Amino acid sequence: MRVVCIGAGYVGSVTGAAFAALGYQTTVIDIDQSKVQAINEGKSPIFEPGLDTLIKTYAGTTLNASVEYDAVSEADVVFIGVGTPSRPDGSADLKYIEGAAINIAKTIKPDGYTVIVNKSTVPVGTAEHVSAIVEEHSGLKSNVHFSVISNPEFLREGYAVEDVFLPDRIVIGTLNERARTIMRELYSKLIDLEQPYEIIRQLGFNPQRESGLPVYFETDTRSAEMIKYASNAFLAVKISYINEVARLCEAMQANVLEVSKGMGLDSRIGNKFLQVSSGWSGSCFPKDTAEFLAASRKHGRELNVVKAAMESNLEMHAYIVEKVKQKLGTLYGKTIGVLGLTFKPNTDDTRHTQASFIIRGMINQGASVKVHDPQGMEMFHVFNPNLAVTYCHAAEEVADQSDAIVLLTHWEDYALLQWSDMGNRMNHKYVLDTRNFLSAGMMNQLGYHYEGIGIGNSQEYHQFRALSEVI
Ligand code: UDX
Repeated sequence: MRVVCIGAGYVGSVTGAAFAALGYQTTVIDIDQSKVQAINEGKSPIFEPGLDTLIKTYAGTTLNASVEYDAVSEADVVFIGVGTPSRPDGSADLKYIEGAAINIAKTIKPDGYTVIVNKSTVPVGTAEHVSAIVEEHSGLKSNVHFSVISNPEFLREGYAVEDVFLPDRIVIGTLNERARTIMRELYSKLIDLEQPYEIIRQLGFNPQRESGLPVYFETDTRSAEMIKYASNAFLAVKISYINEVARLCEAMQANVLEVSKGMGLDSRIGNKFLQVSSGWSGSCFPKDTAEFLAASRKHGRELNVVKAAMESNLEMHAYIVEKVKQKLGTLYGKTIGVLGLTFKPNTDDTRHTQASFIIRGMINQGASVKVHDPQGMEMFHVFNPNLAVTYCHAAEEVADQSDAIVLLTHWEDYALLQWSDMGNRMNHKYVLDTRNFLSAGMMNQLGYHYEGIGIGNSQEYHQFRALSEVI
């Protein structure tokens, strides 16, 4: 079986490398020559832990990349994994998907049958739209020479290699039996856990979760397309909810770490995605919630809960700015050190990142801001060229003469900092840890005024927790 992945971004390069590793002859196609060259030279075109090794192992054997669409004519399955940027009204712009569909139509084999798979997150109804484009530009008949189906990806940035081999679920959206049979065969190697685990082990990864067999879920196309949006919006709602609960915990002297632990013991709620932050962000949640809300409005069924979660998320960013301001009395003339610019650790991705809202908020009130991130400074500068911040090459430098340090992203590097030295460099030893990540006990012992979100600052509590963790 031959596979093509169109797009060498997060979706296409990870999916392509994974199918190549599973033994399928795979071609990744992208218009960007530099990404194509990177893959053919055995390098990852994006920052994603483990992907470099994976691509290096299979480049030139089962994995190839090209700017030409030729490989489509030989392919059994063509994944579309190109970007779907947001329009100003929040709806998804499908121009790259449509361009890929036209190019596929021009090269698809006329005497066979190809499954075209929408892997990017696309609005409900896009498979039908792509199908009509391919019919129009190829003169071939849908469900005779090709079928367009939905197979949404659920990869998390930073864990994409692990997620692609050990998914919780594989969702296949098509009622066409021929397409279903081909997809079942394609994914049979992932359903059998032996090979994926073996690949992961050989690559030296240490899977962080106990994953059982993935659930292979077949459904109709529109429901599959909806599953992706409904899932991401649900997770965004869950985080906004715990963030609001954290704010209330602060007002009512409860501790959100205890509350989320206690809530998560209920298997109906689950303990994941209950970690407090300065808000959710990334390349998926903001875009997908905006598109989902725009679609719901278009159909006269506004998703009020999703709308509220989006508003609540913006309030959470503002809350962080306000909290620092309250602590320092004013932000005017103050120097703030920010640790973490990426929307979460283990990625260089700073698209829509919380940091840009929060930093802008502090600068607007007269603060000077120094920033550090282990991976994201370059991209942050590209997306925020006019933001007047000082980029620090070492995390320690953000502490120099600062009145506060605000930790936005819980990179492991920040837990390993010499916090005693950091404190000596600061004007005022105040740390706001928006991820409740650092050890409160240690920070208090070092003489910091340390605050998390929704956890209070009670010495008594930290002693109790330290003891009960031991037990
Ligand atoms: C998400 C989905 O998880 C994934 O299935 C989909 O394919 C793409 O979108 P990703 O954007 O990589 O993945 O990030 P994720 O790990 O889900 O985190 C999203 C945001 O929520 C981050 O800013 C993260 O820091 C934040 N978050 C996550 C919290 O604030 N609290 C949590 O408990 C979990």
